[in-house]
Amino acid sequence: MECFVRPPGIGKFFPSVRPHSLILVALFLISTSRERLAAEGICSSFGSAADKLTAVPAAPVLLNPPANDTLRANDTALVWQSVDGARSYRIQIAIDSALFTVSVEDTSIVQNTFLSLHHLIGTKLRAGGKYFWRVIASDSVGTSCYSTVWSFITIPLRRFIPGALWCDTNGNLIQAHGGGLLYDDSSKTYYWYGEDRNASSHYAKGVSCYSSKDLCDWKFEGIVLPDSATNNGGKTPVVERPKVIYNDSTKKYVMWMHIDSADYSYAEAGVAVSDRATGPFHYLGSERPNNEMSRDLTLYKDDDGKAYLVYSSENNATMYVSLLTRDYLHQSGTYVRNLINESREAPAVFKYDNAYFLISSGTTGWAPNEARYATAGSPLGPWVLNGNPCVGPDANVTFGGQSTYVLPVQGRTGEFIFIADKWNSSNLPSSTYIWLPLQVKNNKVTIQWHAIWDLSRLRQSNESSEKEKHLLH
Ligand code: DGJ
Repeated sequence: MECFVRPPGIGKFFPSVRPHSLILVALFLISTSRERLAAEGICSSFGSAADKLTAVPAAPVLLNPPANDTLRANDTALVWQSVDGARSYRIQIAIDSALFTVSVEDTSIVQNTFLSLHHLIGTKLRAGGKYFWRVIASDSVGTSCYSTVWSFITIPLRRFIPGALWCDTNGNLIQAHGGGLLYDDSSKTYYWYGEDRNASSHYAKGVSCYSSKDLCDWKFEGIVLPDSATNNGGKTPVVERPKVIYNDSTKKYVMWMHIDSADYSYAEAGVAVSDRATGPFHYLGSERPNNEMSRDLTLYKDDDGKAYLVYSSENNATMYVSLLTRDYLHQSGTYVRNLINESREAPAVFKYDNAYFLISSGTTGWAPNEARYATAGSPLGPWVLNGNPCVGPDANVTFGGQSTYVLPVQGRTGEFIFIADKWNSSNLPSSTYIWLPLQVKNNKVTIQWHAIWDLSRLRQSNESSEKEKHLLH
């Protein structure tokens, strides 16, 4: 059933017309005006109050409408306000705005979010195409009017949109918060590990893993370490910032992560191991490395095969760098205290041109703050704290995010991607990711904001800095 519309008094104006023709004309007029009015979103105001079917749901109101024709991510969700009593919604996507005659998608769904845009690109939606969409709600009595019609333009594939919702190849939001990446040479595949976040608490559901060949399309590989393995019978429900490296001698994938009690007083680092990048990982336990507290952490594997655990210690006041044993499963006993009393967390370490760089955040919980980078000639320091590498809007608060990893792009020397989390502390699973090009020039790190970019941007920045180098010599 559709929303109720009172027909105008047609018989008065056409007295000689046979009754059944009149009915046909009337039906035609009703349906076209209903379509037009519904498309304009004003159907429910048509007719007197007494005519209205009171239990028919109200027209859905879109929640994230962009300005019409604004560029939207491939995979940004279409969201509307839940309608009271609605049992299902019908969403229509079309290539024409007038009557939705050329519909490319017409689906009924139960929830008030449509997340499958990414999934449709290449099958029903063209990358870079313009589309129109609207939605109607149904309850047990009938169907609402259409929502207002909105349009979106899908962006070409293989682009990064910092801070946008990002779906995996199944159309589900990627859950890899506080994460890190690993390039697996044997399978020529990137793996992204991170926290699978829970909406109702700050305890993750475990560590998830995604795989990709191009850094844009990510396939969910599953939960590779469930929280049941790390929570110590409920004593340590917090699992954060997992990072994985590969040990060339033992042929094992080794994961280190922050393990903590609900109030973060436990402050330990946990370790797990697997024969495969896609897990399952076997949890070996947790410790206070070098008998000191450990909260936010990362791993760094150097070109010589030595690996280091880098962690915020002494109640987040001081950053420690600890050389791991050759199997990467324990502390070797060699470690250094760095950035003493600088209160830095969220460390991300990388190397370029024989220099080492450490990006970190300040300590303000889930709220963003200013990033800074430190430099050293060796992973064990001494580390010198420099300024803020971010440039652009909100650079003073890391564009609204917090560092978690710096990815060297495989096979492309000097090309790095800075990866941060844009936390939504009231609903952690909907926290998004900020991926941006990172550039090192004369030992200075720059992370320039781009609202949308692709991998060719990394090469361009490098080429221009190479040219500058030549000019200087
Ligand atoms: C900041 C840390 O960087 C996050 O990983 C998380 O532990 C929050 N603090 C918790 O407040």
